[in-house]
Amino acid sequence: MRVLVVGGGGREHALVWKISQSPRVKEIYCAPGNAGIGELARCINIPAENIDELVEFALKNKIDLTVVGPEVPLTLGIVDKFLANGLKVFGPTQRAAEIEGSKAFSKELMAKYQIPTAKYQVFTGVQQAKDFIKELGVPCVVKADGLAAGKGVMVCFTLEEALKAVDDILIENKFGKAGSKVVVEEFLEGQEVSMLAFTDGKTVIPMVSAQDHKRVFDNDQGPNTGGMGAYSPAPVYTTQIHETVEKDILRATIDAMGGEGRPFKGVLYAGLMLTENGPKVLEFNARFGDPETQVVLPRLKTDIVDIMEAVVAGELDKINVEWYEEAAVCVVMASGGYPEGYEKGKVITGLEKVPEDVLVFHAGTKKDKGQIVTNGGRVLGVTALGKDLQGAINKAYQGVEKIDFAGMHYRKDIGAKAL
Ligand code: AMP
Ligand code: GLY
Repeated sequence: MRVLVVGGGGREHALVWKISQSPRVKEIYCAPGNAGIGELARCINIPAENIDELVEFALKNKIDLTVVGPEVPLTLGIVDKFLANGLKVFGPTQRAAEIEGSKAFSKELMAKYQIPTAKYQVFTGVQQAKDFIKELGVPCVVKADGLAAGKGVMVCFTLEEALKAVDDILIENKFGKAGSKVVVEEFLEGQEVSMLAFTDGKTVIPMVSAQDHKRVFDNDQGPNTGGMGAYSPAPVYTTQIHETVEKDILRATIDAMGGEGRPFKGVLYAGLMLTENGPKVLEFNARFGDPETQVVLPRLKTDIVDIMEAVVAGELDKINVEWYEEAAVCVVMASGGYPEGYEKGKVITGLEKVPEDVLVFHAGTKKDKGQIVTNGGRVLGVTALGKDLQGAINKAYQGVEKIDFAGMHYRKDIGAKAL
């Protein structure tokens, strides 16, 4: 088989790594990929958003299966275009990906089908939004409707902040078209867990739980990032909670999407808050999470290509998905300054000294004159398995200590919350 992976971050490196283990796969391509992915796949210089070029590439190179990593091409309709050209592709259609592409849509869906989530209202008018905020009180959460690369959510602890967030979104157009509507919702308290599930629109197979670390500094301080690390499993996510999530959230959402004439195939990602009143949905994503994928896929025992093909064929009920018992931890190493401005092109050293049983997934890296250099905010995801979380933490940090690049920073407390 010839497989094409679309994207070029840590998530896509983990996907390429897992796909490369399938005995059925002869060749892997990745668009655009990165330096680490280049060790396992042929990187091709097409951005993930250039859908027509990707279709052309897949047709010309007789690609048997395309796997889409990021949300932007999904919401632009990459899956629809591939299907229209008779190409097999893993991911939701544009109408199904709206569950991530529009928070207003996903909130309305949850309200209509009684899927547990924070109380909310959607506004296009500034005054109405502000009146609702005053009625709701603080803390509250103000969100831009559309995709904003994880930056469109403001958790507000003062009335001033909340009112300013509305102005930023609706008047200042800080998020462009993504901010033509604003969602104001109740603040939820608890621990966050990410639950991803494979689904063909009929069968839903949850993966193992994971926890992201969104804030840039230790002890969850500082601004939000794309994710500074992750671990799996999340011990707070008990069997009892899982039963509720599986039935009332994952299963219910896939049925709801079917009911709306938007059958969802691919990976449904539920960002959950485990509140005193049970698990509630913070957001849905229409894809694998990053960095969560970097801790979830190393725990997957089953051939991922078999699973993906079954999803595409609508035969996921025929697959038995198995997991390793070990825990996994991923520590993200980031460029100096990230998540604000940062420089690129710093030489990365020490990769060859990382112990063999530690996985280094590349995110923002590229090859430059035979050296590997930084090429993004999140640079590497250093990942290890252990017989328990403490073992995995120790191993991952043993890997981190070997690696160096100018200005690098990483959190020292990944996984600590779970111990
Ligand atoms: P989202 O992109 O909607 O998941 O929001 C990003 C982050 O904002 C989440 O991971 C939470 O940490 C936080 N967040 C979003 N919605 C809420 C909420 N209703 N209550 C508390 N925190 C929230
Ligand atoms: N880890 C958060 C995300 O993938 O959106």
